[in-house]
Amino acid sequence: MSRPAILFVCLGNICRSPLAEAALRAEAERAGLDIEIDSAGTADWHIGKPPDARAQAVASSHGVDIADLRARQVCAEDFARFTHIYALDHKVLASLRTIAPSGTRAKIGLLLDCVPGCEGEPVPDPYYGEDEIFEVTWAYVSAAARELVTRLSA
Ligand code: 4NP
Repeated sequence: MSRPAILFVCLGNICRSPLAEAALRAEAERAGLDIEIDSAGTADWHIGKPPDARAQAVASSHGVDIADLRARQVCAEDFARFTHIYALDHKVLASLRTIAPSGTRAKIGLLLDCVPGCEGEPVPDPYYGEDEIFEVTWAYVSAAARELVTRLSA
């Protein structure tokens, strides 16, 4: 099998998907798993910006530094480069399905469908919320990262 390549996609690529990227990097490293991991947003609003300071703070509190990440917009090439593309919520999933080139072999799905008990749920968007929601976001993306590593290690 070719090396798995996983892309997480949210709206702005400054809150949820960089945290998902960071959580999977940490879990994959712990498991000694060699996978390509990246994140992107469907919107172009924050291209080139670092993750939101609150996302950086929650990642840092869990021992992961995401200060060097920079937001980018998902593009057609992503559907050839990545084996799996995970949307953080349903609106993003719908956007991905709209822009996916016909015949793409990338598996496109909702991230929390891989977490038992959370199937069909979105990862809460913390951007307009209280700081504490970033901790909830981290809990969700960490649970998903652990599931993905288990599946990819099998
Ligand atoms: P993200 O959060 O999609 O998890 O990165 C958001 C970031 C920015 C905005 C909305 C959500 N915004 O409206 O600028």
